[in-house]
Amino acid sequence: MNDFISGGWGYYIATVVLLGIAWCLWLLFSQRKWLTKRTPGVVEDTGHVWDGDLRELNNPVPRWWTYMYIIMCVFGLGYLVLYPGLGAYQGALGYTSALEVKEDQQKQNVEVQPVYARFAAMDIPAIAADPEARVIGQRLFLNNCAQCHGSDARGAASFPNLAEGDSIYGRTPEALQTSISKGRNGVMPPMGANINAKTAGEIAQYVRSLSGLAHDQIRIINGKREYLNNCAACHGADGKGNKAIGAPNLTDDVWLYGSSEATIVQSILNGRNNRMPAQEHLLTPEQVRLLTAWVWGLSGGQDVTSSAAMSKTTAIK
Ligand code: HEC
Ligand code: HEC
Repeated sequence: MNDFISGGWGYYIATVVLLGIAWCLWLLFSQRKWLTKRTPGVVEDTGHVWDGDLRELNNPVPRWWTYMYIIMCVFGLGYLVLYPGLGAYQGALGYTSALEVKEDQQKQNVEVQPVYARFAAMDIPAIAADPEARVIGQRLFLNNCAQCHGSDARGAASFPNLAEGDSIYGRTPEALQTSISKGRNGVMPPMGANINAKTAGEIAQYVRSLSGLAHDQIRIINGKREYLNNCAACHGADGKGNKAIGAPNLTDDVWLYGSSEATIVQSILNGRNNRMPAQEHLLTPEQVRLLTAWVWGLSGGQDVTSSAAMSKTTAIK
């Protein structure tokens, strides 16, 4: 795969690279007479003189330097044959840095296997309570998740708080594990085409009233009607959300984006498209399981489901 928009760019770049090397060799060749005409003690004088007796000589380039120059050009050509570098040409060795990382990761995963072996037989609450698992879980979190969810897991605007409060998709071990391994993409469609700014403001006032925030008693009357028409399908008539499609609960004090009228109006008019990248290609199933337990443990471990908090038999698909 190459990143060029059209195949022509590959040839263009390859030509520039090869011409560059050819030019280097030509430059050396054009200066060759200094190498051959070498009488000890006699040096060509350029005739430039400064301050009376500061003369500019034309000393030949040392021989070792010339050889090094040629060797480097040959090395460069050899490198371009073996490795990618000539436009879209992949190189005879088929090397890619992505492949190298992947191989390193696989090697590492095999090495850490014994560390995780002990947890394979434990269910999620047991792992969440295990001191060693908590240390590993925290490290995994800091390395892989903290850049988005914060080092304290409390999130930020658009990044959910994993440590406390209600969650978008649910805090059952199953929901957490799916969020982590498959990723999530919360999509609220933009409704600016059907709802004008004034109505959006009224709906926002009504949404604020749902969680007991200060609101305008008059504007929420129309706001409620419009909410039921436009929003209830996803967020529920009672505003409690729908974990299956990731529509947040609007009746609590947990806000992904913020509770101000302006922010809610922005969600309504422009919609939201929020993506959590899938981790299943980056982490091993054992690591995902440990993280699931760690995140589950953060919230005090409520929400244990009927499946006995995902016993060891739960397959990670
Ligand atoms: C690139 C940023 C990013 C990274 C890295 C990331 N997340 Fe997320 N995560 C998000 C976003 C954004 C959402 C919300 C998705 C949505 O709104 O649908 C989310 C949602 C979640 C949820 C669901 C939250 C809820 O309220 O239901 C969990 C659980 C989660 N992430 C855990 C993790 C863990 C564990 C890691 C590390 C392995 C991680 N995330 C790495 C951005 C990220
Ligand atoms: C098709 C389903 C759908 C409809 C219809 C919908 N929403 Fe949403 N809404 C979502 C989803 C999904 C999210 C979460 C987006 C994300 O993960 O970032 C969301 C997020 C929000 C948020 C942000 C919540 C927070 O915690 O910051 C608000 C506010 C909101 N919606 C209000 C509304 C209102 C008001 C309407 C009606 C005008 C509406 N939504 C219609 C699906 C929907």
